[in-house]
Amino acid sequence: MTGLPAEYEKRIADYLTELGSVGRKGSGLWRFPFTPEYERAATLVEGWMGEAGLEVRRDPVGNLLGRAAGASDRVIAVGSHLDTVRNGGCFDGALGVVAGVLAASYLLAEHGPPRKTIEVIAFTGEEGSRFPVSFLGSRWMTGTLTPQDLLLADDDGVTLAEALAAAGYPGIRPPSSARTDLDAFLELHVEQGPVLDSAGRSLGVVSTIMGQCDVEVTVQGRADHAGTTPMGMRRDALVAACRLILAMREEVLGWSRPTVFTVGRLIVKPGSSNVVPAEVVFSIDLRDPDAEAFKRARERLRRMCRTAAETDKVVVSWRDLYSIDPVACSRELRDVLARAASALGHDPMMLPSGAGHDSMILAATAPVGMLFVPSVGGRSHCPEEETSFHQCYLGAAVLASALRELAY
Ligand code: HGY
Ligand code: MN
Ligand code: MN
Repeated sequence: MTGLPAEYEKRIADYLTELGSVGRKGSGLWRFPFTPEYERAATLVEGWMGEAGLEVRRDPVGNLLGRAAGASDRVIAVGSHLDTVRNGGCFDGALGVVAGVLAASYLLAEHGPPRKTIEVIAFTGEEGSRFPVSFLGSRWMTGTLTPQDLLLADDDGVTLAEALAAAGYPGIRPPSSARTDLDAFLELHVEQGPVLDSAGRSLGVVSTIMGQCDVEVTVQGRADHAGTTPMGMRRDALVAACRLILAMREEVLGWSRPTVFTVGRLIVKPGSSNVVPAEVVFSIDLRDPDAEAFKRARERLRRMCRTAAETDKVVVSWRDLYSIDPVACSRELRDVLARAASALGHDPMMLPSGAGHDSMILAATAPVGMLFVPSVGGRSHCPEEETSFHQCYLGAAVLASALRELAY
C-alpha cells in the first residue's frame, strides 16, 4: 500500500488554490496557450516540478515535462493540461498536473530513483479555447498536428504559427515524430459529469472515451437593408443557420443514442442591427461512444447542410477541423488503477468519459489509463466546477500507488 501521506491533502489544496488564481477574471479562469497568464501558470508548475526533484524542460510547442530518470529509458508518464476553457474552473486539467507532480515528488523522496523513467507532463492547448484546434500539445507529441493546423487563427486573426513564434517557439514544422518511449500514460481528472457524484462514489476508472469531432460550418447569405428588403426576398444567413442548428438537434435527439451535439460558438457578419446577416460561422462539437454510429452521425449532419442550402437559398460549407474516434483505455492500466484503489480501501466505479482528454490522443502511441474523481453536481467548463480537496487527494493517492507499481 503506497498512497500518499495525509499531509499531501493540504499540499494539493494549496497547489490547486494557487494555480486557480492564475488567469482569473471575475469568478472564472481564462488561461489560453501562449498568453502571459498561461506562462505564469507554467512557470509556477515548473517551480513545483523542480522542487519535486524533476528535471524540467519545454518541448517545441510548450508542453512542460518534468523527468526523473530511471534505470530504464522507458517512460511511465502522468499528467494532464494547464490551459482552461473560456471562463473555466480550477480543476479541469490542473488536478492531473498537480497530482502528477506530488505523486512523483513523494515517490522520489520515499523510494529514490525509479526503475523506469517517470515523466510528469503538463500539456498545453488541450481545450482549443483560443485556436480552433483541440489537443494541441498531445497531438504534437503523437505526430498528428498538421501544417494546416498552424494556419488556424484566434479571434484577433493571430495564427497558431504566429502565436508560437511570438512565445518563443519558432519554426515548428509538423508533423513531429511520435514518441515511442512511453510505456504508459496515466491521467487523473475530474469527471465533469454527474455519474460519480450522484452515485455517491469517490473514484472512477475510465473504460472508454467518446469519439469527438470539431467542425466549422459557414452559412453564406446576402447582406441587405433591414428596412427596405421584404421578408420574402431575403437570404438571411442567421435565420438559415438557426433553422439548420435546430434541425440538427432534433435529428440527434431522434436517434435516442448517447450522441451529444453542441453549437457553442456562432459569429454573425457583418453584425449590425440594421443589416440582414450575410454570413454566419458556427462550431459543431459532436460526440458518440461508438465508432460506427459516430461516423454515421457525422455524415448525416453533413448531408443536412446540403439540404439547408437548397431550401434556404444560402451556401453552406462544412469544414472538418478535427476528428477522433472513440478510444478504449488499456485493460491492463484499468486493472492497475482499480487494484491501487482497492488496496487503499476504495471501490472504484468503471465508467466511460464523455469529455475528451489528452489521454485519448496519446492512446495512439501508448497504453493509457484514466482515473476520475467526482464533480459536484456534474458541473464543469464553468466557474462553478468543484471537487472536494479530499476527493482530489484520494485520486492523487491512487495515482501515486499506480505510478509506483508501474515505475518501481
Ligand atoms: O472538450 C472536452 O471534452 C475537453 O474538456 N477538452
Ligand atoms: Mn476541459
Ligand atoms: Mn480536461
